[in-house]
Amino acid sequence: MSPVREKCCSDVLLPLLFLLIFSLFSPSSPLPPLLFFFLLLLLGCPPSPLHLLFLSSSSPLPLLFLSSSSPLSQDNSIAHIDFNACAGHEWESFLSAMERGGATVNDGGDQIFSSVDENQNVMDDPNRKQQPLEVDQQEILKRMLETSGLLEDGTLLPSNPVTLRSKAGGKQQAWHVDLQRGLLIALVSGTFLLYKNAAGKAFRISLKAGEGVAFGPECVHAGAGYVKDNMRVHVYLLKEGEVQTIDTGDITPFKETETQDKLPMFTPLPFNGGM
Ligand SMILES: [Fe+2]
Repeated sequence: MSPVREKCCSDVLLPLLFLLIFSLFSPSSPLPPLLFFFLLLLLGCPPSPLHLLFLSSSSPLPLLFLSSSSPLSQDNSIAHIDFNACAGHEWESFLSAMERGGATVNDGGDQIFSSVDENQNVMDDPNRKQQPLEVDQQEILKRMLETSGLLEDGTLLPSNPVTLRSKAGGKQQAWHVDLQRGLLIALVSGTFLLYKNAAGKAFRISLKAGEGVAFGPECVHAGAGYVKDNMRVHVYLLKEGEVQTIDTGDITPFKETETQDKLPMFTPLPFNGGM
């Protein structure tokens, strides 16, 4: 092996080069790094154990790049989180705190918009209300979000956490975007979120207790209608300095074909699914 090739294949430079290339591609795809290693073999530089360390999903180093693959880094992305699995202790504490709070769908609170009339005036729904979480509930929620990785090492902050309360018979919302990252957490199974993909196709997402769905600021969605009382938690995830907007973005009434009972089910990719 020539001195040049020995230098090229050093255990320091090649891993660095690999990491650079790795970071330029989507970490969810193993193809670019695999191609790189095949290239090494073609050049007569078989990967050393150190190189393979970087390819291993158990290596902590590729995790450095997972922040760029976060579902919330894309404006219209959407991701599923199982808090039972990734923050089980905090989830149990949070659920206990919510139960101690004793909130019910019959409590007061602010009405949430439901649809728009023919003049694009927003109409609130008396069967759909929200109320801020109590301080202790907010603190436990923040710990749960930190543990689950949703706050991206402090890059994001939970903002305006509320319980959303729908009475039986509450109608589905009009399609809209929130213009900020959001997270819906199911306190009970049978919690739904309606969602449109980039192609404009509508779906219904079903959540069990302890599951959540996080979505980007341009993700088209709508609160579901409920045939029985439902209480869930919603929180915005803002970057530092980002101001929460009350603008609900583009609002589009449902078409007949988009009535939620007719929508196919959709399961978002797991949060950090590229790991
Ligand atoms: Fe929304």
